[in-house]
Amino acid sequence: MREALALALASALGIVPLAIPEDSCQVEDVSLTWGFKESFRSYVSGSIARGSWEVSGDVGYETPHFTFRGGKGYVTADRAEGSAEFVGGIVFSGHEGILETSLQNPELVVTGTRVATLVVDVTGDTMEEVSVNRQDVHFATVTWARNDENVIASEGVWSVDDAQVLLTQEGSDAFGTYPAGEVMDPMSFRLEVAPGCFDDGGIWWVPAGAAAVAVGASALALAIQRGRRSRGQERP
Ligand code: HEM
Repeated sequence: MREALALALASALGIVPLAIPEDSCQVEDVSLTWGFKESFRSYVSGSIARGSWEVSGDVGYETPHFTFRGGKGYVTADRAEGSAEFVGGIVFSGHEGILETSLQNPELVVTGTRVATLVVDVTGDTMEEVSVNRQDVHFATVTWARNDENVIASEGVWSVDDAQVLLTQEGSDAFGTYPAGEVMDPMSFRLEVAPGCFDDGGIWWVPAGAAAVAVGASALALAIQRGRRSRGQERP
């Protein structure tokens, strides 16, 4: 998204066209929690690898989750497109330095309704002894169900709990050991934009509201008609 802001600035200066969709909400606050992969954390910190991990920048660690905070970005009002980009990352180390894998500058890119991609820069050697130094690796696909998300449009809050995270082929190539489709730890995030900027899923209530008005109007007309009839009957 810093890239997007740079683009916006460049666009304002008339250098390049603006890439951010018009109906976008700027991310005012974002926090994300993700354990990466529990079995990997216990492998790294256990008796086989005898290692640890270090975090930096926007990334912290509170057992058992990595936390990404203070990212920058935008999301469209319908939440089907957007990005939250963080600086800093995680470095896993073990096996007395043979394992030294770095995942930096995570970016959660919302690519559709209830689907996102986690993009990271990866460096290190895989267990298969392939040296990797790749930017913008589309590392994992993040998906969630309608029930896993909560939108409070009036407060500009969008939260998703326990989204499913699956390693992509690119992620597998860069990280090694795990195949594409490997289930990583679930991810949760909470994102804040200006109050009222998000759509409130209002599509359903417009017809529902119209139907309610129509039903109310018919009931009123019926009541008036009956009233008239009964007054008519009272007449001698
Ligand atoms: C001296 C070099 C290494 C040795 C001897 C070694 C050994 C092992 C062993 C024995 C396991 C199986 C652990 C288990 O089943 O509990 C394992 C798992 C694994 N290793 Fe290594 N490894 C080495 C280097 C690396 C490197 C450089 C990476 C790069 C990231 C790596 C990534 C992994 C991963 C992802 C697993 C699977 C962990 C899991 O989720 O269970 N290893 N390794």
